[in-house]
Amino acid sequence: MKAVIMAGGSGTRLYPVTIAVNKHFLPIYNKPMIYYPLSLVMLLKIREVLFIVNPQDLENFQKLFGDGSHLGMSISYQIQEKPRGLAKGLILAEEFLNGDTVCYMLGDNVFFGHNLIKIMAEAKTEIENNGGAYVFGYYVKDPERFGIVEFDEEGNVKSIEEKPKNPKSNFAVVGIYFYDSKAVEIAKGVEPSNRGELEITSVNEEYLKEGKLKVKLLGRGFAWFDAGTHDSFLEAGEFVATIEKKTGLMIGCIEEIAYRNGWISREELIKLAKPLAKTNYGKYLLEIAKEG
Ligand code: G1P
Repeated sequence: MKAVIMAGGSGTRLYPVTIAVNKHFLPIYNKPMIYYPLSLVMLLKIREVLFIVNPQDLENFQKLFGDGSHLGMSISYQIQEKPRGLAKGLILAEEFLNGDTVCYMLGDNVFFGHNLIKIMAEAKTEIENNGGAYVFGYYVKDPERFGIVEFDEEGNVKSIEEKPKNPKSNFAVVGIYFYDSKAVEIAKGVEPSNRGELEITSVNEEYLKEGKLKVKLLGRGFAWFDAGTHDSFLEAGEFVATIEKKTGLMIGCIEEIAYRNGWISREELIKLAKPLAKTNYGKYLLEIAKEG
């Protein structure tokens, strides 16, 4: 499986903050927002990642991640000339995916929780072995903002709707999706929605129609932030700061994950940490390198 991370878009819901800076570079506490989704795909042991980016941001993404070799990964970029919706990202990734299964991740989503990786890894294995699509639901108080999934009494998915005016449930579909190789073709058949976008929800609806959409609810004990508004952005930062200070462990620390995955050596980790040594981030990496 390969990963595609959607990091384009205009970020208008964060204006004026994002007039001059792409939201994915903004800090969620002590690291750029985009580290969080990248760290999740790394924890799923996916080494080949494509970022979908706006033309004006490509250079800065390259500054941040280069070709990924310093993390023992292969990172590449695909320019999206104009934001056309999340399903368009799948179409743009066609060549990169080359028929492989995909973990499609939104660049502004932050996840945290006990067993999170175990649950996501199970979804990954399910799609690799049996095909179809796998998404996750999370209880929210403002369902009008999201893709919303409705269940019947037996817990089967009944419907899935993008930003419904009259939501049929409070379960939002979060921004990590696992798809088999058919997703690209399905995305190509999607018609623009009322807001003029090719919705990822339309792709999920198609899998639902074919009886191939699996949904798992992320219940208590999980935190999920879509850092796309001023409030959710601040909440995500406060949450990460609190957890990191309490546990002494970092969330979304890509160098640490590369090292613990065995993708880089201790020497390589130290080399990455040194330019950051004035910060707690760099000191944290140096501490990890000292562990046995
Ligand atoms: C997108 C999706 C929506 C999903 C949300 C999760 O919304 O369209 O279905 O629930 O991400 O973050 P957008 O951020 O484009 O409004």
